[in-house]
Amino acid sequence: MKLNSFSKNGLHGVISVPGDKSISHRGLILGALSSGTTQLHHFLAADDCLSTLNALKDLGVPITRKNDFVTIEGQGLTGLKRPTKSLDMGNAGTATRLLAGLLAGQSFTSTLIGDSSLSKRPMGRVQTPLQEMGAKIELTDGHLPMTITGQKLHSIDYQMTVASAQVKSALIFAALQADEKSTIKEFLPTRDHTERLLNKFGASITTSDDGYTITVDPHPHLVGQDLTIPGDMSSAAFFITAASIIPNSKITILNVGINPTRTGLLNILEKMGGKVKITNRSQTDGEPTADLEIESAQLKPIKITSKDIPDVIDELPLVALLAAAANGVSEVTGALELRVKETDRISTIVTELQKLGIKITELTDGFIIDGRDEWQIKNSKLDSHGDHRIGMMLAIAALRIKEPLALENEDAISISYPQFFEDLKEIEDADSN
Ligand code: S3P
Repeated sequence: MKLNSFSKNGLHGVISVPGDKSISHRGLILGALSSGTTQLHHFLAADDCLSTLNALKDLGVPITRKNDFVTIEGQGLTGLKRPTKSLDMGNAGTATRLLAGLLAGQSFTSTLIGDSSLSKRPMGRVQTPLQEMGAKIELTDGHLPMTITGQKLHSIDYQMTVASAQVKSALIFAALQADEKSTIKEFLPTRDHTERLLNKFGASITTSDDGYTITVDPHPHLVGQDLTIPGDMSSAAFFITAASIIPNSKITILNVGINPTRTGLLNILEKMGGKVKITNRSQTDGEPTADLEIESAQLKPIKITSKDIPDVIDELPLVALLAAAANGVSEVTGALELRVKETDRISTIVTELQKLGIKITELTDGFIIDGRDEWQIKNSKLDSHGDHRIGMMLAIAALRIKEPLALENEDAISISYPQFFEDLKEIEDADSN
């Protein structure tokens, strides 16, 4: 597709973004495990969450959806049914890993498959600790297809070896079905939506004051809820970045989830001299939300190391773009996890930004960027490489560039944000008013 290029007068207007992807996956799963009906408002109806919805239907859970409103008839913690076919998880890593933990304790065998990208992502990280709990999980060379034969699970006292909310959540779902209390220790805290939402549904999950240790009481009685899902910070991040790096911009994004495990981009932007105002702070069903006002600013370079990574993990392609527009040399290290996302994001960020003439050097665990005001285009044919976040990051980069640009494999964007280009148009059109 052709990308819109160069936004001369800046971006302006007020927009909302779709529901949070992480919370939408979890809302579906918890609804399925509860007694009674769960209603999800502002659900993210994108390919990834629809993979979870369809997998749960295949596990015998009645679910209906009308746009972003979903109704789930809960089956209880032990009420899922043996699927009659392999569960197709599409591109959804989160759903795959969360369901692995859940299915490990059910009373039947199931097989999870996925698309070519998901089939390359590491699954040993859930298999190893789940096996310690007594799970029976077969992988294909460490990857999907994954066959899980449900077992009676033991509790676990586990020290996490990777900073991953997906692994932590898989263990929490298994621990709910174990014989005794489990504890999970993180070395860097990761997003805590599973813990918050489970407590909302009636479970007892406690987190130590320092935020590192999670204790899970088994066999809770989960009760269906009426939930409103906040706007996804990871989707808002594209417009936050756009307004920051396109001169003369001023936009407002309404009702965005600002869970502190997700707001790394805002902290980084503040350190870079960005202009973000957080207003109308509120709580939506256990998650903090707010409106964000963003204005363009001349940015300073930044250094990011491993401790800064978990709360900005999905926004690192955008950090690269902010750094490319800043004056001076920025460095991102300790981000090896980027290599096992929907694509090897270190490689795809470097390859695509170099096409735009951005001076970026690849490191094993990150990149160095020498930022400047103007970029000299080397190749106008950009490629998402099938990665939704790379595709959208490139569409934002294009707004700073005068030459026409094209994006290949743009379909990937529907994995997390099917109406991305319509929402972008809203703040571009406001521009010409
Ligand atoms: C997610 C956790 C993160 C994140 C992903 C969503 C989740 O993955 O990158 O987009 O909802 O738990 P990791 O757990 O692999 O870090």
